[in-house]
Amino acid sequence: MKPDATTIDIYNSKANDYTNLSKDADQDIRLENFAKALPAKARVLDYGCGPGTSAAYFADQGMVTHAFDASKEMVKLTSRHPLVKVWQAGFHEFNEVDTYDGVWASFSLLHAPRSDIEGLLVAIHKSLKVGGKFCLSVKLGKGEARDTLGRLYTYYEHKELERLLRATKFTWENHFNGSGKGLDGTISKWISVFAHA
Ligand SMILES: C[S@@+](CC[C@H](N)C(=O)[O-])C[C@H]1O[C@@H](n2cnc3c(N)ncnc32)[C@H](O)[C@@H]1O
Repeated sequence: MKPDATTIDIYNSKANDYTNLSKDADQDIRLENFAKALPAKARVLDYGCGPGTSAAYFADQGMVTHAFDASKEMVKLTSRHPLVKVWQAGFHEFNEVDTYDGVWASFSLLHAPRSDIEGLLVAIHKSLKVGGKFCLSVKLGKGEARDTLGRLYTYYEHKELERLLRATKFTWENHFNGSGKGLDGTISKWISVFAHA
């Protein structure tokens, strides 16, 4: 399904606010752990990259870094890094095969409808080389809802993620739980799952 237009409009209009909110994301231990698990000169994708903070981190580590996002303002921000190859696209358009050593999907796939998630995970699995690494971060909870800004969210429970990753042939390695304040000012619980193809 095409990206939710309201959600993308909000990211376009609040791209700078989001950048300020996530400006320390490159100091996140999850990012460091993910990068360490990849081979030297790995080919890595920042899937739903936002302002490209993670993509810039990967590129600075010497990785061949690709990134995409449906928001043109986010793509513009990500393109400031000369070594990141970034393009504007929706999740549904992504169909690489056997290309990446790692796919980093940080709080992006939570904007896909639940009915799409399994197909999108299958596409990510196909895009990874054998044993390629995947990190998926989403907010925890039940159902689908718009936040106070109007962004459409799908919330996941731990067990559902286990089932989804198993069904799409990923091997769950470990996970981190945490909580944090989002762009709408509310605090949410999240999970980051580390898996491999
Ligand atoms: C919460 S931000 C996360 C950005 C970045 N990954 C990070 O961790 O800071 C969610 C991003 O997903 C993008 N996005 C939402 N729905 C999308 C879709 N269907 N296709 C591509 N990008 C999408 C938004 O434009 C936004 O930049």
